Amino acid sequence: MGKRPLVICTDPGIDDFIALSMVLSKPEFDVLGMVALSGNVGLDVTINNALLACEYNARADIPVLAGSAKPLARPARSASNIHGKSGLGASLELYAEGKPSNKNGADFIIEMARKYTGKLEILSLGPLTDVALALEKAPEIAKAIACITVMGGGIHAGNATRYAEFNIVADPEAANVVFGSGVKTVMIGLDATNLCLQPRSDIELLRAPTELGKIVPAMLSSYADVYKQVHNIDGMMIHDAICAVYLWRPELFTCMKCRMTVCLEDGEHLGQTMPEDGDTCLAATSCDAQAVREEILSVMKRVVAAH
Ligand code: BDR
Ligand code: CA
Repeated sequence: MGKRPLVICTDPGIDDFIALSMVLSKPEFDVLGMVALSGNVGLDVTINNALLACEYNARADIPVLAGSAKPLARPARSASNIHGKSGLGASLELYAEGKPSNKNGADFIIEMARKYTGKLEILSLGPLTDVALALEKAPEIAKAIACITVMGGGIHAGNATRYAEFNIVADPEAANVVFGSGVKTVMIGLDATNLCLQPRSDIELLRAPTELGKIVPAMLSSYADVYKQVHNIDGMMIHDAICAVYLWRPELFTCMKCRMTVCLEDGEHLGQTMPEDGDTCLAATSCDAQAVREEILSVMKRVVAAH
């Protein structure tokens, strides 16, 4: 079997950086490009951090495309309170050597969907803005995309607000376009990711005499500090990394078939994901948390040993 063609949309973000490093270490994927967009932090910063993820993982050959600087219909939200101004934690300020491609993120998604008809997979680790723009500009690509795996949403809980998860509420209109497009989606939301508390003690296991062996513990320590301050727990949920695990270990997740809808009304339910009858979306309701945590740790141990 050939490699799986994959485009990643991302807003790095500490957990994005871990997810990107994990996927880049997996030989079964042909990572065609990364679309960096505004989300956790602003667009310039997420572009820099996506470039850094490629460079630190010795994959500077992968194009990084500029995605959207703002959501489809609303002002940008940020999560710099969690990820720091640099997006990679309070103690890191790193600058990539490379530059983004001069293509635009949505056009790149359209081009790749046409080139890899029936095979292209998308991993979305941030707001769904650029995927929605691509589907609005070229609706026929909904049939050409094999699957979009989304970190986002939650059936029973939110995190950015009481009912809504950050990636979805950051651009609810975009999420609605994607879930309503007929494309096959997998939603790995908080019902699964909140189960996977990565203990703070795992950070020390990722220290190594390599570049990533220094910066990965530094960024995870900042992330854990925030979890300690905000939730008073000694560990963290590395949401995007948990979602990435689904790509190669789907059997670790329990999912329900549905048609996912998103609340677009202003108010406390804005951005809430609500499953209805249908079969276009597989939404995670639970997962084998212990196995997911071990998978993240074992893949990341190999990553930090290598780079
Ligand atoms: C999601 O929101 C962002 O802050 C994280 O990077 C992750 O993609 C978790 O709700
Ligand atoms: Ca993210």
